[in-house]
Amino acid sequence: MTTSTAVRTDRHLTDDDLADALHRDVLRGLTAMPKALPPKYFYDARGSELFEQITRLPEYYPTRTERAILGAYADEIAKLSGADTLVELGSGSSEKTRLLLDAMGSTGSLRRYVPVDVSESALAGAVRGLRPDYPDLAMHVVVADFDRHLHLLPQDGTRLVAFLGGTVGNLVPAERARFLRRIRAQLRDGDALLLGTDLVKDPARLVAAYDDAAGVTAEFNRNVLHVVNRELDADFVPDRFAHVAFWDAANERIEMRLRSEDARAVHVRALDLTVRFDRDEQMRTETSAKFRRDGVERELADAGLRLASWWTDPEGDFALSLSVPV
Ligand code: SAH
Ligand code: TRP
Repeated sequence: MTTSTAVRTDRHLTDDDLADALHRDVLRGLTAMPKALPPKYFYDARGSELFEQITRLPEYYPTRTERAILGAYADEIAKLSGADTLVELGSGSSEKTRLLLDAMGSTGSLRRYVPVDVSESALAGAVRGLRPDYPDLAMHVVVADFDRHLHLLPQDGTRLVAFLGGTVGNLVPAERARFLRRIRAQLRDGDALLLGTDLVKDPARLVAAYDDAAGVTAEFNRNVLHVVNRELDADFVPDRFAHVAFWDAANERIEMRLRSEDARAVHVRALDLTVRFDRDEQMRTETSAKFRRDGVERELADAGLRLASWWTDPEGDFALSLSVPV
């Protein structure tokens, strides 16, 4: 057989939704003190492509480390889970996911893959890449915001919900608590959560991972300004904002910021807003929390999830955990 099973697509995010959310979030962020821009808007087509480049940088260890952990333990994960449906949140290019799909396929249980992302271009690229290699796997693509649409995910089957890449660390603690409770509310007996978390380590390595020598992360960070310029008719001059990666030791997280090299006014015409930047003023664009095992276990427990397995690479740089509803 050369024909393959159909791809179904659910769109929970319309262009209007995205535009509304962008208006609201940018207005709130640029009028806050200190200023901030919300992270989900990094991932337009160019941002998703830049992130793929980040994953291949020598300094950015999380992707290759998580891939190595999956390489070593995907069979065990597949056996423990026994799921017929793999739901993946923030799936991006779905590259590492192949290891899970292969393992779940060889235990014979897998029937369906459900990639979920805000980036339609990333989802399209992922499906294009996977289809030739997984012709018999049903794909149910979901364009959605995992902050808002978890209750709309497909409900049938036994599900393994994967959230890889350490993206959970991009949520601040209150958002994370709410997110994990909502995931828990979706899970039934037999379902499980596979969570990738980057671990606390030498700050020099952490900072380098978010401030690479080639400047790709700096471009990625500044891309959010291109998005705001395009979508909200603003006049940020991206090249006049310097990329900053700062290790916040007290909160054990990397903060990404953009530092204005000039004192200047920026006009955001679609919001009828003028914002003033002082010279060297820093605006937060993303945080990336780093974890320890006891913290992950506690946050899961607070959400009604029991940590069942914990896997790391030999250096203890990154962890995957499997948890189940209690
Ligand atoms: N899982 C991949 C990609 C991680 S990058 C990996 O491990 O390499 C984070 C991904 O999450 C991006 O593809 C981005 O588009 C997506 N994302 C970010 N915020 C999101 C949100 N609120 N809802 C859904 N997807 C989101
Ligand atoms: N989830 C990724 C992380 O926290 C996202 C990321 C990598 C990122 N590099 C970045 C986000 C630079 C903003 C800026 O590792």
